[in-house]
Amino acid sequence: MGTEKTLRCAVIGVGRMGRHHARVYAQLEGAELVGVVDGDKERRDDIIEEWGGKGYATVEEMLSDAELPGVDAVTIATPTVYHLEAAAPLLERGIACLIEKPLAPTTEIAAAIADAAEEGGAVLQVGHVVRYDPVMRAIASIENLRPRFIEMVRISPMTFRSTDVGVVLDMMIHDLDVLTMLLGNEPTDIYANAVSVMGEAEDVCNARLVFPAGSDGLSCTANVTASRLALKTERKLRIISEDAYVSADFVKRSVTLIQKSVNDPQLTELRRRLAEGEDLSSVDYVDIIDVEEMKVGDADALTLQATDFLNSVRNGSPPEIDAEAGSMAIRTAERIVQQATAAGAKSVY
Ligand SMILES: NC(=O)c1ccc[n+]([C@@H]2O[C@H](COP(=O)([O-])OP(=O)(O)OC[C@H]3O[C@@H](n4cnc5c(N)ncnc54)[C@H](O)[C@@H]3O)[C@@H](O)[C@H]2O)c1
Repeated sequence: MGTEKTLRCAVIGVGRMGRHHARVYAQLEGAELVGVVDGDKERRDDIIEEWGGKGYATVEEMLSDAELPGVDAVTIATPTVYHLEAAAPLLERGIACLIEKPLAPTTEIAAAIADAAEEGGAVLQVGHVVRYDPVMRAIASIENLRPRFIEMVRISPMTFRSTDVGVVLDMMIHDLDVLTMLLGNEPTDIYANAVSVMGEAEDVCNARLVFPAGSDGLSCTANVTASRLALKTERKLRIISEDAYVSADFVKRSVTLIQKSVNDPQLTELRRRLAEGEDLSSVDYVDIIDVEEMKVGDADALTLQATDFLNSVRNGSPPEIDAEAGSMAIRTAERIVQQATAAGAKSVY
């Protein structure tokens, strides 16, 4: 950010996620951590001791501090149910907010947050950080990716956190945003089942989402699974597209790519031999085709996200993941939960 003005940043809610946002602002060139807001004094004092800034119990307290000469950009990392309450007073004053995912617990509340941003003319970005993951960046760099079938798995053992929302809004929402990024539209049909174990909200869910045909006339189906009751952690994404097969593992930080066009000579030869009636059962297909292990960077996704957000604050340029993108993911999440419940498969055991 060079010699540009240093942006004065604050974090609201410094629990599991908020503490990382505070660290990023404290370490990022061109940013300064000036405010740390959390009702829990011990927690905010810990952060201030490590990363600096001044502590407040509430957003209002920070905003009325005459000694604090303004705040330019704020991250909201309270539990989702408090996003509106925390963000509205800031957005209405025109203060830019990066709001953790999901933007809100319902589409109505997401709309109220979007209205507050509109009213205040404030930059609003939603913290769908997976888009900044180097694995996702590698996938985004693949040219002519036209997905026809997508398989997503996001499973983890129970952490007993974020239980204010179900697994669809807590975990699957990441993949729903990735689908927004890859396909740019919302599903026409949804088939879903879910199971609740720990409480009323669903802990495991599988959804099949049918996306409409794009300008190329090709539709896409996504099969998405999320669980917060698993025995292991898995974050996988597989894309079958017209020209490519992509297999990504976000835990191992790997992206494997096989492209039809790259393998054209081998495939042409195999097709010719098949057409001539040759017995190819002893041919090792995996040996013949070119399999590329893509280069995956090691940048910190939260830092990339904060940098992008602060660039929008500086330039007034609209953030890539705006209120509409955040709302799209929530709309689909609500439809999934509705379908899963309507399917009668939501059982407590
Ligand atoms: N991007 C990701 O990968 C990711 C991962 C986990 C959580 N999250 C999101 O981050 C948000 C926070 O989740 P968490 O797990 O860090 O929660 P947490 O419970 O660990 O922390 C929340 C903090 O907010 C404080 N708080 C609550 N209400 C407040 C208010 N009105 N004003 C100020 N502070 C308040 C609490 O005291 C607590 O310290 C949620 O929206 C969650 O969905 C995102």
